[in-house]
Amino acid sequence: MHIKSAVYISSNSDHQKCPAPDLPEFAFIGRSNVGKSSLINALTNLNKLAKVSATPGKTQIINHFKINNEWYLVDLPGYGYAKVGKSQRAGFSQMIKYYLIERPNLLCTFVLIDIRHEQQANDREFINWLGSEGVPLALVFTKADKLSAKAAQQHVAQYLAQMQADWEELPPYFITSAETKQGREELLRYIQDINQQHAKNIAS
Ligand code: GTP
Ligand code: MG
Repeated sequence: MHIKSAVYISSNSDHQKCPAPDLPEFAFIGRSNVGKSSLINALTNLNKLAKVSATPGKTQIINHFKINNEWYLVDLPGYGYAKVGKSQRAGFSQMIKYYLIERPNLLCTFVLIDIRHEQQANDREFINWLGSEGVPLALVFTKADKLSAKAAQQHVAQYLAQMQADWEELPPYFITSAETKQGREELLRYIQDINQQHAKNIAS
């Protein structure tokens, strides 16, 4: 997929106030520092796109970008990692959960994982929650350039092996680096395939 345009649309704390759900939508989520902004910028080839959403207003949590006038890319904060108090954090998590369950045009949620890390308890809990709610997801391992290609493969294999305790059939996964743009084409192709399938489903 060629990225012709990527435009910041809005930030919302209430999923019901998000843009009308009239285009396919893809959400990106992951713990703080996982490389979410960097990946979004690498995907869109715009170095400052994701930072547009970094408004200090802590309640603005669902950030919409329109890509090629064809689909929405949504930047979500890390689950449970917002730099606010505990009660507010619980509220944020709840809001994200409502968004993930209720957004009718959300076709896939990409969960970002630092390729160097083992599965964390809250990552596991969140991924399993997505599964139990039937929210389509894919895993995106980030920062692959920090490891040799071999070590990267090993880490991913280990991560997936851990997931097999919970999952009968593992979700699709991508190995990426915002630094080298590894995985960029694959990820964009995956989104394009889903969009095309979606268009066919609507037409039939
Ligand atoms: P928050 O918005 O603070 O939650 O972080 P984030 O998930 O958006 O991560 P961000 O993109 O800001 O990246 C965090 C740090 O990791 C920065 O120092 C980036 O330069 C670095 N980083 C992100 N992606 C990569 C990558 O693919 N390779 C390398 N080597 N560093 C990366
Ligand atoms: Mg960020």
